[in-house]
Amino acid sequence: MPGNGLVPSAESRVILEIRGLMVRYLPSRQKPVQPLKGVNLRVHPGEVLGIMGESGSGKSTLAASLLRLLPAHAEYSAGSVEFEAQDVLRMRESELRRIRGAKISMIPQDPATSLNPVLTIGTQISEVLRAHLPVKKGQRSAQVLELLKEVGFDDPERIASAYPHELSGGQRQRVVIAQAIACNPALLIADEPTSKLDSQLQTEMLTVLMSVVRRHGTALVLIAHDPGILIGVADRIAVMYAGSIVEEGTAQEIMQNPLHPYTQALVTLLKSEHRAGKTDKFPVIAGDAPDLTKAGPGCRFEPRCPGRMSVCSAQDPTESNITHSHRVSCFKHAN
Ligand SMILES: Nc1ncnc2c1ncn2[C@@H]1O[C@H](COP(=O)(O)OP(=O)(O)O)[C@@H](O)[C@H]1O
Ligand code: SF4
Ligand SMILES: [Mg+2]
Repeated sequence: MPGNGLVPSAESRVILEIRGLMVRYLPSRQKPVQPLKGVNLRVHPGEVLGIMGESGSGKSTLAASLLRLLPAHAEYSAGSVEFEAQDVLRMRESELRRIRGAKISMIPQDPATSLNPVLTIGTQISEVLRAHLPVKKGQRSAQVLELLKEVGFDDPERIASAYPHELSGGQRQRVVIAQAIACNPALLIADEPTSKLDSQLQTEMLTVLMSVVRRHGTALVLIAHDPGILIGVADRIAVMYAGSIVEEGTAQEIMQNPLHPYTQALVTLLKSEHRAGKTDKFPVIAGDAPDLTKAGPGCRFEPRCPGRMSVCSAQDPTESNITHSHRVSCFKHAN
């Protein structure tokens, strides 16, 4: 099935460890929302970790919180995000700046518009190198050309001297990947990097992204609007529902042996839509979307769950380990 067989063992090293992460948004004129309700997740060096979950489940909030990029009205209410044994949530701004873009890099949701329209491509990539690496200007120019070659440009000199508007959408995407890997980060976070592209460009961008991370041994957290994308490329998949990771496992465990009722519904729909050739949308699960303004205990999937029990609305389910790589949060599998 997926990836390159990078399945972590129980003793595998961890580069990012998220423990009990809770986040609330406190908008001035609306009720507080709790988009993250105790997220636990690990990322291992060089792996591709896919995150899937319906719209509003907290994926972008999670991605942004890993680099403390949430807006001012967000509150990190509990938990930690440890990168290389340091808690990102408690780091000084100056330390954080050293990590952002250098050790952890982010590919934005709309990469094409993230480029500065008044600077050449070469200047923009060079700027990333200048900010983080002690290399001289001449060396930087050579590195820029190397990076452009690496993301598939045969004519890097022309691309380096071009402005963003002179490039096609697909070319701009590749430039954004070059920028993101410029400092050879240990971890790349891509939040729905292909959602604004047509299907041919999606495949092209994903191919470039995968080849770059595999070559560099970069860990990739890939959030996809279309979970079908993850099935082909992710080593592991974390399933997110209403602010929690409800199941996590190798891509094979999730696709062949889903245990959480939400994952089961999702996988069943995914397989049938895949068979019908519809792979570009997130499957719609029956029932109402969860209310994230509701605080208090209980499984947030309970109103939609065909197998709910009385305990499910009274307590939060705890995590159960099924194998060393497969875990699920559901009372049906409590051990
Ligand atoms: N800046 C914000 N202010 C207030 N609420 C927000 C903000 N961003 C997201 N939300 C809310 O937080 C929840 C999770 O959103 P998000 O993290 O964007 O989910 P996803 O990326 O899975 O679609 C949603 O209910 C959304 O409306
Ligand atoms: S904890 Fe209960 S409500 Fe939640 S998914 Fe499991 S069985 Fe369903
Ligand atoms: Mg999102």
